[in-house]
Amino acid sequence: DKSMIEKAKKAAALKAMESAPEHGLIGLGTGSTVSYFIQELGKRIQKEHLDLKAVVTSFESQLLARQHGITVVPLMGIESVPWTIDGADEIDPDGNVTKGRGGAQTLEKIVAAMSDWYCLVADQTKRVDRLGTKCPVPIEIIPQALYLVLSRLSPLPCKVHIRTSSEKDGPVITDLGNFIADAYFEGIDDPPKLDHLLNDIPGIVGHGLFIHRADQVIISTFEHEEIKIVTQNLKRTSGR
Ligand code: 5RP
Repeated sequence: DKSMIEKAKKAAALKAMESAPEHGLIGLGTGSTVSYFIQELGKRIQKEHLDLKAVVTSFESQLLARQHGITVVPLMGIESVPWTIDGADEIDPDGNVTKGRGGAQTLEKIVAAMSDWYCLVADQTKRVDRLGTKCPVPIEIIPQALYLVLSRLSPLPCKVHIRTSSEKDGPVITDLGNFIADAYFEGIDDPPKLDHLLNDIPGIVGHGLFIHRADQVIISTFEHEEIKIVTQNLKRTSGR
C-alpha cells in the first residue's frame, strides 16, 4: 500500500545517508525519495554543525534544500562532486534506469557525470526486467527543434506525447526552458542503442535513459510491515 511505499522510500534514503560525506560538497537529485534524504540532511547539518554545501538538479530540490537549511551553490563553476544521491523511475537488473518523471533528467545526468559516486535510491516498485515497460523515456527538447526531433523519433517503436502542464495551458516548460516529449515503448529492446540514438539527434538536450551511469543502487523491499534494503554496487562505464 501507499504508506508502505513511502516508508520504503524513506528507508532507502536513510540507508544512503550512512555513506554520505559529512563535509564538502554533496549532489542532490530530485523526487520524493530524495526529498526524505534532503529533510534528514537538513536536520543533521543543524544538529551536528556539518560543513556541507549542496548542488541541486532542479528548482524543486533547490526550494526544498533552502527550506531545510542546506546551502546551495551554483552548478556553474563546479566540475566535480564527490557524492550524489538521486532517484529513479525504473531500474533493470543491470542497474540501468529511466528517470525524468519530474522532468529533471538533463541536470540529473549532468550532475551524475560530475559525480565520483552516483547513488540511486528507490523502493521495489521501480524494479523492472526491461526498461520502458512501466514508464516512458522523457526527452527534453529545445523548442525550436521540436518538429525535427519528432520526425527523427517517428520510425521508433514508441508513441510520443508532448508533456503538458496541469496548472498552466500548454506544454510543460522545464527548469531549463525546454519541452519534454515522453516516449512510450512496450519495453526497450536495446537500451544502450536507444541511448546513443537519442544522443545523436540535434535539439535533444537530455533524456531519461541512464545507461551504466550509477555506481550504486539502493533498493528497499517490503513484505507486510518488514522493510529490507538491498545494495548493489555497479561497475560504472559511462559518463565520467
Ligand atoms: C525526476 C526524477 C526522479 O528522480 C524520479 O522520478 C524518481 O522520483 P520519486 O523518488 O519521486 O519516485 O528523475 O526527474
